[in-house]
Amino acid sequence: MQQEHSLRSSHWFARGGKDGFIYRAWLKKQGIPAYELEGKPIIGICNTWSELTPCNSHFRELAEAVKRGILEAGGYPLEFPVMSLGETLIKPTAMLYRNLVSMDVEESIRANPLDGVVLLCGCDKTTPALVMGACSVNIPTIVVSGGAMLTGRHKGRAIGTSDIWRFSEEVRAGRMTQEELALAEAGMCRSDGHCAVMGTASTMACMVESLGLSLPQNAAIPAPDAARKVLAQLSGTEIVKMVKENRRLSDILTREAFENAIRVNAAIGGSTNFVIHLLAIAGRIGVPLNLEDMDTFSANIPLIANLQPSGSHFMEDLYYAGGLPAVINALLGHLHKDCITANGKSIGANYAHAVSYNPDVITGMDTPFNPVSGIVVLKGNICENGAVIKPSAASPHLMQHTGKAVVFEDIDDYKKRIDDPALEVDENSILVLKNAGPIGYPGMPEVGNLGLPAKLLAKGITDMVRISDGRMSGTGFGTVVLHVSPEAAAGGTLAILRDGDIITLDVHERRLHAALSDAEIAKRKAAWQPVYTQSTRGYVQLYQQHVEQAHLGADLDFLKGSSGSEVTRDSH
Ligand code: FES
Repeated sequence: MQQEHSLRSSHWFARGGKDGFIYRAWLKKQGIPAYELEGKPIIGICNTWSELTPCNSHFRELAEAVKRGILEAGGYPLEFPVMSLGETLIKPTAMLYRNLVSMDVEESIRANPLDGVVLLCGCDKTTPALVMGACSVNIPTIVVSGGAMLTGRHKGRAIGTSDIWRFSEEVRAGRMTQEELALAEAGMCRSDGHCAVMGTASTMACMVESLGLSLPQNAAIPAPDAARKVLAQLSGTEIVKMVKENRRLSDILTREAFENAIRVNAAIGGSTNFVIHLLAIAGRIGVPLNLEDMDTFSANIPLIANLQPSGSHFMEDLYYAGGLPAVINALLGHLHKDCITANGKSIGANYAHAVSYNPDVITGMDTPFNPVSGIVVLKGNICENGAVIKPSAASPHLMQHTGKAVVFEDIDDYKKRIDDPALEVDENSILVLKNAGPIGYPGMPEVGNLGLPAKLLAKGITDMVRISDGRMSGTGFGTVVLHVSPEAAAGGTLAILRDGDIITLDVHERRLHAALSDAEIAKRKAAWQPVYTQSTRGYVQLYQQHVEQAHLGADLDFLKGSSGSEVTRDSH
């Protein structure tokens, strides 16, 4: 396979004089022989390893496997770190920093002598952040995901991150002791890898595979399985081929590829966070995609993967049942089969022979686990620009529901009052949370699946309609309306809702409506004052000034699109 174009890295390493001397000499201090830098594709390995990102803590080993593949194929690997986002530890929320990481990735790739890049992605935001940054440069790129951890165990039964929400409610309802909770904690995270359910990290791994940005089987191989390292090594050989064939992200990320990803996400019951990240990625690569597309292309796709939180199994089970290839195979009749993927083959060719080994985990389109899946986009006077709900994780009896609003001005107000015995709330009420959006919090945290009032939990109530401008963990569930746009802090109608307002949610009609006249809404808006805090320095100030609303992907407005891979100034 011949390389028909000059290598980008040759602008550094093929130079004579002082410049070439400096570029080569300082790399050689790492013990690199001269011939390694002569005419070989230089491949960056963009590593989000960090001990503060427990889901990605095995990435140094994964990088070694990638390097073996790159060397074997005749390239030369250079690993570099970028800011990492650990969902569990980082405050106030990892989402606040997704765009910052994407800037780090974009500038690191463009500024350096790289011909191709391997993105090592794992914990939730590390995947979209790295893909967004790489899209804004658009050189050959392949993704290697870290894989999910092994299924947790507690008292002889399988547990995963979605159970944390259940345990928490059990403790609040007095049905689980602190000692039992500590035992569950000890059995939750048994190995390397990210959350073991179809949460956001697994959804993102499935997203990159269905977009064609990785090799087949990337999504579901468990982190500790030796096959994960094999896939990493094969991805290393593949990226060298991609450079030689000049297969760039824009060749793979077509409008049709995005439509495929939306359909696959529906079939697996993927996270609502998929919406916001896919919109942001489309914005970077320059593919027109809007919120309504999420509903349009997932509308007729049923749930065919039985995974928590929409179903009952775990990522490990998905892999043993055939992995994402078996899901994609079942869906092929609904996909654009000609879309090219990282290995140069089409989706149709890659997945033509994949089969399900366990119909209880991956079934066919005729025998779905739930005929309702995907992401429903709601419109109405509460959310003029849209809001989302994941029907497969919601309660059927609440899909059409009218109730009185119980309004919390922000998450602190919610925490203060939710368990107050005097709170006027019953199971028909609708909990409304304001100021959890991109600007208001800031960073749009995963607080949308508000815990229910303790007095209702004690009555055995397990779900209520909840509405907010925030997000929900991909591991969460419930009849939860999220991503309300415009958010409260931007002066959306959400901001002027009051206790007792009558709200109707109608998922079938795609409607979220407050029984308020236009005149009443206008009167309340005229008297409205923002209550969020505007940061006065640093990245957070920049973020609050430039972040777009959720229905556009919550990217920074000046990061849309690409600056390409050319370095325009050369100071040596
Ligand atoms: Fe990292 Fe769940 S905390 S994927």
